[in-house]
Amino acid sequence: ETVDWDPEQAGKGEYDHFMLKEITEQPTALAQAIEGRIDATSGRIGLSAFEPGSFEAIDSVQFVACGTSYHAALYGSLALNQAGVQATALLANEYSVAAPPVDETTLVIAVTQSGETADTLNALRQATAEGARTLTVTNVVGSTAAREADDALFIRAGPEIGVAATKTFSSQAVILTLLGQRIATDLRGEPSADLESLLPALESMPSRIHELLEHSNAEAIAEQYRDSQSYFFIGRGLGYPVALEGALKFKEITYEHAEGFAAGELKHGPLALVTPETPVFAIFTGQEDEKTLKNAEEARTRGAPVIAVCPDGHPAVEAADEHLAIPETDSDLAGLFANVQLQLLSYHAADLLDRPIDKPRNLAKSVTVE
Ligand code: AGP
Repeated sequence: ETVDWDPEQAGKGEYDHFMLKEITEQPTALAQAIEGRIDATSGRIGLSAFEPGSFEAIDSVQFVACGTSYHAALYGSLALNQAGVQATALLANEYSVAAPPVDETTLVIAVTQSGETADTLNALRQATAEGARTLTVTNVVGSTAAREADDALFIRAGPEIGVAATKTFSSQAVILTLLGQRIATDLRGEPSADLESLLPALESMPSRIHELLEHSNAEAIAEQYRDSQSYFFIGRGLGYPVALEGALKFKEITYEHAEGFAAGELKHGPLALVTPETPVFAIFTGQEDEKTLKNAEEARTRGAPVIAVCPDGHPAVEAADEHLAIPETDSDLAGLFANVQLQLLSYHAADLLDRPIDKPRNLAKSVTVE
């Protein structure tokens, strides 16, 4: 497969920062990611490298990745578990000391925007040496990870210049959701029941993200909480990787302290940190939302402002102090809309603090050292 990159895209155009440009490009990036790969009418998922049945010999999946790509991998592994496939997401830099055993029935999927991250390449090479089947999900055609794996699947997000990964997270998560459905279909011999609602929801995602971007109040929320001490992000199920990603984005570009937690973990320790100076962003994806709401209320009782990231009319809107709205959608995708709101929040918070948004201190776009 080849992917055309428009040289126009390499400039900042009308935007102050590449990060905002790339956040805004998500409708196009997602449309490119799914183009020709799904057909909601027939319920078909076509991923050119993989004919139906090509994953029949696979028993389990291990994802290896770092940073934002790890959060996308965690998202993908949870989606696979929900579809009935055994899958784990592992930090690539831990793989040499903590890899579960592999054999030829294990599919090891490297998720890497650049395809050049040293930690991820090392994990991929280890998995190859130990006899696993390998696949790279990447944005860069011709990258080392794409060349070294048995197969490669391209997310087609276009160039991402900002050090903070934005559009590539969304595209990775969508591609991994599709891939997960393909693997699950091969293993079970029939598509999952989910597919019927998932494919139309995916098709409408670019236009709905466009709408969300047009109406977001994330800038006002960033302004409202700009003097806080710490920022916490909580989510459950597919909302958990989004909470981790929300916190990573926030800390890397604002330099403020931020942490992401599984919503149910809050009461097992982090609640000790919660005060009126620590806003809690609670992500609702439609998976056991009533429990997440309880967890958010526990924080609110301790004085923390709660910002609910959920659809209009959701019970959390009433229970929270503020609201970042996402559309009603399939629970497999709700977290990805929430993530776009959180990207905007981080961007505006960093902008208010006058941080060098596209090039945060001490960080590189592609980390080619161990
Ligand atoms: C996140 O905003 C960072 N850019 C970083 O965590 C990144 O996702 C990580 O270094 C992995 O990079 P890769 O996707 O190119 O492998």
